[in-house]
Amino acid sequence: MALSDCRLIDLPRIQDPRGNLTFIEVSRHIPFDVKRVYYLYDVPGGAERGAHGHRELQQLVVAMSGSFDIHIDDGREKRVFHMNRSYFGLYICPMIWRELTNFSSGAVCMVLASDYYKESDYYRDYSDFMRDVHGGTR
Ligand code: TYD
Repeated sequence: MALSDCRLIDLPRIQDPRGNLTFIEVSRHIPFDVKRVYYLYDVPGGAERGAHGHRELQQLVVAMSGSFDIHIDDGREKRVFHMNRSYFGLYICPMIWRELTNFSSGAVCMVLASDYYKESDYYRDYSDFMRDVHGGTR
């Protein structure tokens, strides 16, 4: 898995003068079954979240309200996505280090995840992540 497997998914949007509507259908719009949904909210200015990797977890991250930046890193390349629309989801494949920064006030970050919370799936230490990415060669 590499950075090129991560992508912005343009979710369906039903525009309506009464308010817009977006929906997400498993298999049709995202490439994994959803087992868990969680969200970050009331994030204080300047706070940073994430700073970890996952061995197997797949996720879709959506800015439900407000904005934030997602920095993704596959151990070779890095990219930053500015999330500020609730009809775009960032698909994050396994073996990606991610950091979430620059939360606006009132930002809500919703995450759809392919599995239940499992601490053993996390890389909490960047050097452990890099060691596995590079197969012990660096
Ligand atoms: P963590 O994933 O480290 O947060 P972030 O990367 O967004 O900063 O999770 C923070 C804490 O919440 C950690 O103690 C684990 C717990 N947690 C759960 O119990 N269930 C969950 O689904 C998630 C995402 C976290």
